[in-house]
Amino acid sequence: MALIPIAVTLLALLGSAAVGDALRCNCTNCKSDPECETDGACMASIYYEKGKEEHVRMCIKRNDLVPPGQPFYCLSAEGLMNTHCCYQDYCNSIDLKVPVPRTAGDWTETGSSWGPVELVAVIAGPVFLLCVLLMVGVFLFQYHQRAYSHRQRLEVEDPSCDHLYLAKDKTLQDLIYDMSTSGSGSGLPLFVQRTVARTIVLQEIIGKGRFGEVWRGKWRGGDVAVKIFSSREERSWFREAEIYQTIMLRHENILGFIAADNKDNGTWTQLWLVSDYHEHGSLFDYLNRYSVSIESMIKLALSAASGLAHLHMEILGTQGKPGIAHRDLKSKNILVKKNGTCAIADLGLAVRHESITDTIDIAPNQRVGTKRYMAPEVLDETINMKHFDSFKCADIYALGLVYWEIARRCNAGGIHDEYQLPYYDLVPSDPSIEEMRKVVCDQKLRPSIPNWWQSYESLRVMGKIMRECWYANGAARLTALRIKKTLSQLSVEEDVKM
Ligand SMILES: Nc1ncnc2c1ncn2[C@@H]1O[C@H](COP(=O)(O)OP(=O)(O)OP(=O)(O)O)[C@@H](O)[C@H]1O
Ligand SMILES: [Mg+2]
Repeated sequence: MALIPIAVTLLALLGSAAVGDALRCNCTNCKSDPECETDGACMASIYYEKGKEEHVRMCIKRNDLVPPGQPFYCLSAEGLMNTHCCYQDYCNSIDLKVPVPRTAGDWTETGSSWGPVELVAVIAGPVFLLCVLLMVGVFLFQYHQRAYSHRQRLEVEDPSCDHLYLAKDKTLQDLIYDMSTSGSGSGLPLFVQRTVARTIVLQEIIGKGRFGEVWRGKWRGGDVAVKIFSSREERSWFREAEIYQTIMLRHENILGFIAADNKDNGTWTQLWLVSDYHEHGSLFDYLNRYSVSIESMIKLALSAASGLAHLHMEILGTQGKPGIAHRDLKSKNILVKKNGTCAIADLGLAVRHESITDTIDIAPNQRVGTKRYMAPEVLDETINMKHFDSFKCADIYALGLVYWEIARRCNAGGIHDEYQLPYYDLVPSDPSIEEMRKVVCDQKLRPSIPNWWQSYESLRVMGKIMRECWYANGAARLTALRIKKTLSQLSVEEDVKM
């Protein structure tokens, strides 16, 4: 509002400079003279400042009387200023009135002509608009979510698809059998996986790993294991599901994969990986709990070698499978089945070999897996990552350590050792790469093989296999298939029923 007096002053200056024809006017802003002369018009104006009336009288030059008929200088600003132009001598001596504001302070204190109603409208209007926009946004979001989950439910629950697979009386075994005979070879159809996953009732938590929790769940009366990944671990979940669904991977000594599901509950995504449940838990759990007979040891070792040989093996042809290296083999990642054989689990870090192009299906990073089980070439980073066989050799080194864990628990002639992790006597718990490297690469130490093992053929053979799994030179190590053959022979000699 301070602009008004400035504008008026400017007009006054202009007016006082315009002296030409005969029209004489009163002048409030002319320096010495209370009058002025102009060829245009006399102007009188009144406005309020700080609650006081201010009168302005002055001359307007003819040139400034624009636009003709309604010159700017002669316009009143409603409620702020009353202006009058006239064309006779001293005609601007009249006293104008300006509409008085409701309270004198209205113009001066707030500096605004807005009353409380206008002010409320000005503030509340945009707020209201914002609220409406927000509500529309929330509504659209919820609508989208509902439509999405409805779509998903339709996909999942569409009976036209489901009834073929999921007839009420079918058990998981039936489903898996249907699948293996239908020739798909890589797992249940995705909509069946999702339906199964969404009808599982979780029972109890059975373990916690790096990537999430493992639960025992129930599906149609049978037990299943559910590994629940946090949404942060989506890549691990995806990779593990992807590997498990590699064509022709199913094998009695590889954990049976049932379903992968990403369940969006609106707030976060739960990532599920459903597999066979094995009540004995991991080989680590099992060896901690029980000592094993010679026969059990051979069963565990031979089945683990069979699983690994199948994983490593490339099968050619359209129904073939690529070679797969595990990269995190350890007793915690091998499960013990009810019949005393092993199932290799946790394929999340595995890599697949594409033999046609001789490439590995993901860019392998150098040191993944569990430090304690890392092969020397992994610890000192000399592993040739371009060569797929290098990863298989690193698995064999870890298998040797697992054999050592099993053999220590073998009860032969009433003697057995307590359970220990490999290198328990040489490195601290949760060792660093550096601590492992010193022991395994620099000092070239390996877990000790007791002399008394030589007195028992099975333990002698196991000891020999271990040594041949632990060579510093990866290429010199046994292959899984070789180990499997040696142990098969041993199982025949020892009359082990598999
Ligand atoms: N299919 C299964 N059946 C029964 N128990 C299982 C199954 N899968 C996992 N477990 C149990 O859950 C535990 C946690 O498994 P998880 O693979 O998440 O972690 P981990 O193997 O102990 O450690 P890491 O994260 O290093 O792999 C296992 O040690 C095992 O005891
Ligand atoms: Mg694990």
